[in-house]
Amino acid sequence: MYDNHMLSIEVTGIKGGVGKSTMAALLSLSLLRMGGDVLLMDLDPLGWSSYLLGIRGEGVLTSTHLDDSKEHWSDITFEDRRLRVIKMLGNGQKLDLALEDYLRNEAGIDQLKRVIASALKDSFQFIIIDSSLSSKNGTKTLEYLIRTIAKPSLHMRRLYVTDLNRISIETLLNNIVKEDVENLGVIINMVPPIPSHVEMAESYATMFKGVVSVIPFIENLFNIETLSPSSIPPQVMDLAGIVHKPVPDFLLIV
Ligand SMILES: Nc1ncnc2c1ncn2[C@@H]1O[C@H](COP(=O)(O)OP(=O)(O)OP(=O)(O)O)[C@@H](O)[C@H]1O
Ligand SMILES: [Mg+2]
Repeated sequence: MYDNHMLSIEVTGIKGGVGKSTMAALLSLSLLRMGGDVLLMDLDPLGWSSYLLGIRGEGVLTSTHLDDSKEHWSDITFEDRRLRVIKMLGNGQKLDLALEDYLRNEAGIDQLKRVIASALKDSFQFIIIDSSLSSKNGTKTLEYLIRTIAKPSLHMRRLYVTDLNRISIETLLNNIVKEDVENLGVIINMVPPIPSHVEMAESYATMFKGVVSVIPFIENLFNIETLSPSSIPPQVMDLAGIVHKPVPDFLLIV
């Protein structure tokens, strides 16, 4: 279904608790089911997107020294494809703290490079990065490492997640204007499924460029601990179907 072009999508935002990790995990699962091999890099301090995909245990950067004898990821397979989840944090220190330790010495960076390089020995069409607010610098460093290791054919896009709050929307608009990476679009998440709120979301959507996906508040997703294919909202499946295509000027998915 997909060509050899490798695409990374950083799922991020300007507000906590709006569903970045949930969307990163759901998007990864959707891409797997639609025919892609996917690598999910979970940078959430809680390791939340990997937790949602059933990964338990320590993150790669939880200890100050990587154990090279261990594999630092888990694979979820579907038919002949894989979703590889690398849990960077969780059950331990925050990424920025841990990453600072790593960046202080060449040996640390080399270890990190080895984990990424060995995870990338298998081929992937998609790298999804669950980029937490508190790991902005960490994300940049990892993106740099991935880019150096994963060859220049890597194409990078960013997908923002926000809620329907007016200040969130305005702040996000200002941030996107200043962005450095190609903007794939925005998910307006957890929209109360009542007509006036859906209408408001659709009118806010027109202020953005690219793909804008309006996802309702879904009772079954709230505080869910393990995702399954049946938890994937249709809007996320639709989004997964177009992430690798040229970014449209504006496309609303509701
Ligand atoms: N569309 C939705 N409908 C209902 N609940 C949702 C939806 N999307 C996310 N949630 C819930 O919102 C909560 C926060 O989600 P999540 O942890 O993914 O946010 P986050 O932006 O990654 O947070 P953080 O900033 O802490 O990393 C979770 O309990 C999740 O189950
Ligand atoms: Mg998160």
